[in-house]
Amino acid sequence: MDVQTVGSAASAFAGPVAAVASGVSLLFLKSFLSQQNGGGNRNHLPSIPEVPGVPLFGNLLQLTEKKPYKTFSKWAETYGPIYSIKTGATSMVVVNSNDLAKEAFVTRFNSISTRKLSKALRILTADKTMVAMSDYDDYHKTVKRNLLTNILGPAALKKHRLNRDMLGENLSNQLHALAPNSAKEAVNLREIFQSELFTLALKQTFGRDIENLYVGDLGTTMTRDEVFQVLVLDPMIGAIEVDWRDFFPYLSFIPNASFEKKVDQMYTRREAVMKALIQEHKNRTGSGENMDSFIDYLLLEAAPLTDKQLLMSLWEPIIETADTTMVTTEWAMYELAKNPEKQARLYDEIRSVCGSEKITEEKLCKMPYLLAVFHETLRKHSPVSIIPLRYVHEDTELGGYHLPSGTEIAINIYGCNMEREIWEEPEEWKPERFLAKNEPIDLQTTMAFGGGKRVCAGAMQAMLIACVAIGRMVQEFEWRLKDDTGEDINTLGLTTQKLNPILAVIKPRN
Ligand code: HEM
Repeated sequence: MDVQTVGSAASAFAGPVAAVASGVSLLFLKSFLSQQNGGGNRNHLPSIPEVPGVPLFGNLLQLTEKKPYKTFSKWAETYGPIYSIKTGATSMVVVNSNDLAKEAFVTRFNSISTRKLSKALRILTADKTMVAMSDYDDYHKTVKRNLLTNILGPAALKKHRLNRDMLGENLSNQLHALAPNSAKEAVNLREIFQSELFTLALKQTFGRDIENLYVGDLGTTMTRDEVFQVLVLDPMIGAIEVDWRDFFPYLSFIPNASFEKKVDQMYTRREAVMKALIQEHKNRTGSGENMDSFIDYLLLEAAPLTDKQLLMSLWEPIIETADTTMVTTEWAMYELAKNPEKQARLYDEIRSVCGSEKITEEKLCKMPYLLAVFHETLRKHSPVSIIPLRYVHEDTELGGYHLPSGTEIAINIYGCNMEREIWEEPEEWKPERFLAKNEPIDLQTTMAFGGGKRVCAGAMQAMLIACVAIGRMVQEFEWRLKDDTGEDINTLGLTTQKLNPILAVIKPRN
């Protein structure tokens, strides 16, 4: 998941400019005092290069896109792989290279392990009550252990194998049903796959899928699609809502009613739906049904959680399972459909390894080209383009520069995965680049899953699901784009989902 609220900032400022101006003297006072204190650089290391901006707004007005990762990469060409920008009253350091990202993730981890959340994310994460957005503290370790024990660790992945196999079967059945008519009515993979991932997430967390849900707090029965909207789609949009007060914290006393209403409503509706799911589960177990899902583990075996912690612990794997894996798989199928010779190479590999048998997870290690397709897709289309902002909580250094406590750090994964010194022709989608070394590809070969102690906890699950799904889809069908819907990104949500779903014509093989 990520935070990219610095983008589209310019448009958020029209109203509050006057209020900002009245706070300007405070800002100058703050910077004057900081200079008097020598800026806190005790080690006499050089300061990080700055991208020139304008008084008061800093670089905000140059960040007109909602997802600024491309602007960050462009600036790196002029100012180098690490530079600092001003987003209103706060400074942010942007990292655009693999070496520096690894230094931040691993070597300097102890000084930059915490998060700096936007106002929207503070609300939606119930003030950091989830693994991916919490600080690196005891709470983080406890809830991460819960997730690994019951859903994402090696033993838990074994336990959920049947659910993943079912996902593959359902996907295949639906595609076979649509194939005969697909030349007329192109197949929308996203709709099918997203729904199957949601089913998987509900089975893992609550032990079963739903058709609809009575939500007592809202006094209504919701369809499954409406529940998906509230639990997954709305928070993905809300997570990058811009509140201009994030950039001018000294003006936080000024209300921003439209922002607050929108995000509070998302929070309240999600809470109501999660409470309904939890209550429904308790009713079923109360009537003697035997359950063995994440909620049962959290209620019966794990260390006690408050109601809020329980709710957030259950919601977290739902949103994480339902989005990024779909984003990756859709981009992979887009690239394969666009590149018939690469699709043919993958098909040949599948045929030679599997013969007439279906692809299974066990066979993945014998299919280097399939794994290369997965990693190359993650490299070129990283679902999380900027790591959720990290926060420097004690003075440290990075790349030989002084990094004062209080700095926010944006690690531009897109920038790292497009670094020319490391990746030849980085804008090209070339799975072959991963085969040159003839050795297994590490999950952290690209920066797509982050790195160090806070590396993605769901990387293995994502790889298993995406690789088997991609493999099966190519094993059973020949894919061709009906229309090339292009590589534009949907800028409304948190991840780099394709703006327009792929629309494919699929022809069963044999
Ligand atoms: C292709 C799919 C995925 C991608 C690209 C991805 C990417 C990421 C990234 C970049 C981070 C941040 C790492 C950092 O802050 O340094 C992260 C964290 C995390 N992800 Fe994923 N993710 C994916 C799938 C999943 C899935 C399926 C789950 C769970 C169901 C998941 C659970 C988590 C958790 C719990 C964290 C927080 C780890 C921590 O802070 O210790 N992710 N992911």
